Amino acid sequence: MPETNKQIRLASRPSGWVTPDNFTLTEEAAPEPADGQLLLRNIYMSVDPYMRGRMNDRKSYVEPFGLGEVLQAGVVAEVMESRSDKFSAGDIVTGMAGWENYSLHNGADLRKIAPGPAPLSYHLGILGMPGMTAYVGLVGIGEAKEGEQVYVSAASGAVGSVVGQIAKNLGCWAAGSAGSDEKVALLKDELGFDAAFNYKTTDSLHSAVHEVCPKGIDVYFENVGGAMLEAALFNMNPFGRIALCGMIADYNVKPEEMPPGPRGMILMVGRSLKMQGFIVFNYPELCQEWVAKGSQWLNEGKLKYRETVAEGIENAPAAFIGMLKGENIGKQIVKLADE
Ligand SMILES: NC(=O)c1ccc[n+]([C@@H]2O[C@H](COP(=O)([O-])OP(=O)(O)OC[C@H]3O[C@@H](n4cnc5c(N)ncnc54)[C@H](OP(=O)(O)O)[C@@H]3O)[C@@H](O)[C@H]2O)c1
Repeated sequence: MPETNKQIRLASRPSGWVTPDNFTLTEEAAPEPADGQLLLRNIYMSVDPYMRGRMNDRKSYVEPFGLGEVLQAGVVAEVMESRSDKFSAGDIVTGMAGWENYSLHNGADLRKIAPGPAPLSYHLGILGMPGMTAYVGLVGIGEAKEGEQVYVSAASGAVGSVVGQIAKNLGCWAAGSAGSDEKVALLKDELGFDAAFNYKTTDSLHSAVHEVCPKGIDVYFENVGGAMLEAALFNMNPFGRIALCGMIADYNVKPEEMPPGPRGMILMVGRSLKMQGFIVFNYPELCQEWVAKGSQWLNEGKLKYRETVAEGIENAPAAFIGMLKGENIGKQIVKLADE
């Protein structure tokens, strides 16, 4: 049994950009499970954009992180000790736990991972919440159909890279934008996107979006917001759909410094556009459907997957900040222990 446990706690709330001193590393005796509890050995931990919102002291669709408390993340873990009749020692599970090496858990919302060909870390990415988000947003909200034109922003990330590949597997045109030439090459040469551009080096977002979607956009999968939303809006086809998944360009902007909303909203009227936000976990059936379909497509070689892996709980804050700044290619995860 472990003797000590290292954890990352919220030291202070960021104002604007997150900085390393918003986190603190603590070390204490490893916890012992009480009746009904499990002791988890966390193997992989996910860092995700929504965590930036939980660092603010504002209630959203999830509770804010508490000051001084261990932060929470999606993990893949091994049950080391079980005092619950639902799990046994040795089970591999996924669910929410702490940014720490060992967690106590009551088993609620924890799911056993059946052994399969996919690496365990994929359950935090393509077969986990980000993959489910891509499917819910593109198929459930965007209602993408064969032959349609799909455009996705933050296209090389955990969600975006899956969106474009689902679009291709459905028989759509798939175009995307990303923040480096290396990422754009990945989209076109490895992930099968039809077209992509680097939004950081383009003079005009409006024309760059037009160039990658010359037949207009039927479904825009929105990850970024701000100027990108406006550029997509101007390129939408009649009866197009905009699935609002996230707006990462705004996450580190102080509320008083937020830019005004996109121009051209009247196009929503003239072109009969639909725009809908969504939170992935409100669509459990589609999430389940994705786990089956995504696993099958991975086995058949119809999906490619990239991840960026940081090592050790000490490096989790840097991995999180790096992801917000675009240093990740594909899904950013943190490896905490050997499988
Ligand atoms: N609605 C839901 O249920 C749900 C669930 C999961 C995720 N999301 C949202 O989905 C989006 C993608 O999440 P993810 O987990 O897949 O993260 P990710 O794309 O793997 O990582 C974030 C990426 O965002 C890009 N980015 C950062 N700042 C940007 C800016 N100012 N303008 C344009 N791009 C910027 C960076 O890539 P570049 O190098 O390309 O800039 C970075 O790599 C986020 O908005 C997230 O909040 C929503």
